[in-house]
Amino acid sequence: MELPFAEAYKIKMVEFIRKSSPDEREKWIKECRFNLFNLKSEQIYIDLLTDSGTGAMSDKQWAAIMEGDESYAGSRSFFNLKNTITNITGFNYFLPTHQGRAAENVLFSAFVKEGDIVPGNSHFDTTKGHIEFRKAIAIDCSVQEAENTESEYPFKGNVDLKKLEEVLKSNPADKIPFIIITITNNTVGGQPVSLNNIKGVYALAKRYGGIKILFDSARFAENAYFIKKKEDGYSKRHIIDICNEMFRFGDFMTMSSKKDGNVNIGGFIAFRHEEDQKACQKFNILFEGYNTYGGMAGRDMNALAVGLKEGIDIEYLETRIKQVEYLASKLDEYKIPYQRPVGGHGIFIDAKKFLPHIPVEDFVAQTLAIELYIEAGIRGVEVGTLLADRDPETKENRYPELEFLRLAIPRRVYTNSHMDYVAAALKNVYDRRDKIKKGYKIIKEASIMRHFTVELAPK
Ligand code: F0G
Repeated sequence: MELPFAEAYKIKMVEFIRKSSPDEREKWIKECRFNLFNLKSEQIYIDLLTDSGTGAMSDKQWAAIMEGDESYAGSRSFFNLKNTITNITGFNYFLPTHQGRAAENVLFSAFVKEGDIVPGNSHFDTTKGHIEFRKAIAIDCSVQEAENTESEYPFKGNVDLKKLEEVLKSNPADKIPFIIITITNNTVGGQPVSLNNIKGVYALAKRYGGIKILFDSARFAENAYFIKKKEDGYSKRHIIDICNEMFRFGDFMTMSSKKDGNVNIGGFIAFRHEEDQKACQKFNILFEGYNTYGGMAGRDMNALAVGLKEGIDIEYLETRIKQVEYLASKLDEYKIPYQRPVGGHGIFIDAKKFLPHIPVEDFVAQTLAIELYIEAGIRGVEVGTLLADRDPETKENRYPELEFLRLAIPRRVYTNSHMDYVAAALKNVYDRRDKIKKGYKIIKEASIMRHFTVELAPK
């Protein structure tokens, strides 16, 4: 008999989680003004809000914490992390930051000016926020295939090279500080970008005046895994070689270490050119901390160095992605619509198909998120109209083509029994979907990144 797949680790420590009743949850979500960010973690049974900083560290990471060097300047932990980053990415220069958006803040302070154009594949919300905050313009050049959740197109994270060329053709090169390639493309479903596409972006960037390329790399290892599994010619290549090849086409990377770095907090910027690192140093010192710690404790840099190595281990990656696939197979059984094929860090439920009678103006994906929470104490997150914010010029709501309920799966945290529970809860909501008659309206919202603090009421 062929042996089934099983996890590449065993559990050494557990944290108890509490179940609650639907009545309790109805009361709590109302008190939270229907914003799931306002819930206390004790009010949640399975927390799929994010895979960011919510993973379990390994015994080797905890051991590395004990050996952290807390020197203000020149810490051993800094050089340990630097060597690891150079090994995996080929970038020789780096600055630590306290998380991914801090890396964006530092890099964009040096490179993005008012009126600039920053093309990319579905800029993440903080990335777009940092661009728009500087009165620059983020232009989304994601491929059309990403908008059809039923299509099995293997690289839905790709940049549409025609759209990108249009942008490069119609704007002077000195107005485009860089092109952003987000690996994996979080907003469209944790979908990978192929190496072929990365090379295409690089060729265009060269042709139109040597524009720089920035990798938003939060889930770079998951991207490399998909290249190995799906792209011709890569099945026998090691993940580290694929990472090196991807980054060869970039000038710098911003990293949220809370994802594929397998730590609870941390980030960095890595650079190919020393002058780019120099241009960022003063902002790093101003916003984050001195160049050899930049908002991170020495022990955390040590844990990150181990976490990055574990994050590119094929057995680990296989365990991670197969858990997402396992949940997807259950949803297939129950005919629940989600972004296909499954991406790296979670399942993105197609809320427009799940609740077709709820208009997008009533925040359909948020409506589904609330229903799933009341059903079973599971917290997901809306990736739709709330997240898309208003247009900074017209102040009108932006309605993205895709309205997702994202169920992000933390790394090395939940078992497949938890996944069975999630799938069953979704099936229960799906079975009663016709009884969900109304969505929500906004009572209060912030002018930027409103989804974190928005207050809602039933329509
Ligand atoms: N880029 C991408 C692609 C991200 O997914 C995130 C964070 C960031 C940048 C910012 O990093 O949180 O460390 O400041 N994504 C989290 C999520 C929050 O839930 O997807 P950060």
